[in-house]
Amino acid sequence: MTRFPQHRLRRLRRTDRVREMIGETTLQVHHLIAPLFVKEGLSRPVEIEAMPGQHQHTVSSLVETCGELAELGLPAVMLFGIPARKDSEGTAAWDPEGIVQQALRAVRGELGDGLVLIGDLCLCEYTDHGHCGLVRGTVVDNDATLEAYARIAGSYAVAGADFVAPSGMMDGQVGAIRRALDAGEHQDVGILAYAAKYASALYGPFRHAAESRPRFGDRRGYQLDPRNVDEALREVRLDIDEGADIVMVKPALPYLDVLARVKATFGMPTAAYHVSGEYAMLRAAAARGWIEEQPAMMEVLHAIRRAGADLILTYFARAAAARLRHG
Ligand code: PBG
Ligand code: ZN
Repeated sequence: MTRFPQHRLRRLRRTDRVREMIGETTLQVHHLIAPLFVKEGLSRPVEIEAMPGQHQHTVSSLVETCGELAELGLPAVMLFGIPARKDSEGTAAWDPEGIVQQALRAVRGELGDGLVLIGDLCLCEYTDHGHCGLVRGTVVDNDATLEAYARIAGSYAVAGADFVAPSGMMDGQVGAIRRALDAGEHQDVGILAYAAKYASALYGPFRHAAESRPRFGDRRGYQLDPRNVDEALREVRLDIDEGADIVMVKPALPYLDVLARVKATFGMPTAAYHVSGEYAMLRAAAARGWIEEQPAMMEVLHAIRRAGADLILTYFARAAAARLRHG
């Protein structure tokens, strides 16, 4: 006769060592990618108010930071540029002397192959209207935008990017960029596609940092509706068909269901972007003593991994790497 309870799951939770033995999810430094901002014409780094610990960098403070991140074992950084001058077409985005191009050359020159360099590829930081593409009237012209993206991709590749990361959610952007890279003999430059990027209210701090808030309207004409998941899977499928090497879901925590389905459906290398607003919420609550920051950070990052992310873009990359290394 069996005595209740037959199963005692608490036997698996008794000590740190036992818990470690049966842990189903790992978080290691090579899973993390740090997003970084570099601004043209700055004389010293400027901390971003709504993203404590994150800065708009000069090229030299960026190079220094990249060295420290590589030292901590982080594998990759994602670069966002803020140009000195914006115009209606975002021409600074494909300038060979543009800020991201300068930054790519400087980091490569200093660190060689010590870090994988990913260039975020979009127009919203470069256009005076703040939209992710070329505007005709009040709508973003998809196909004209693709030509601009192709030029940006070529210039990032020449400057030394390992991957370009199109984030504008234009239809056909991955295919257009893949063709342009191949035509320019940049077959080895990969595409990390912002494949399922939602029209989220959690990008506010980023838009402040990147000076990329749209001057009119919003991004719902090109980014995904938060209500939809089938549509996200269609987006991801198209990006894979067009040649994406890595697909991404963004934001992370409110979209873990999407992330889990993307990973399970396609089995692709899959990234999740824990965005600025997600970071800001945790930092703000921790600053008030309302939550404990370090355990909250580790819980969130493990949760994103558990849902299926191979890679996590996060402003916590440095803090998490330091914690993983030094305990
Ligand atoms: C723009 C872009 C955005 C982010 C990355 N690239 C925001 C937007 O769509 O306005 C958000 C990143 C973050 O919030 O951390 N192409
Ligand atoms: Zn954009």
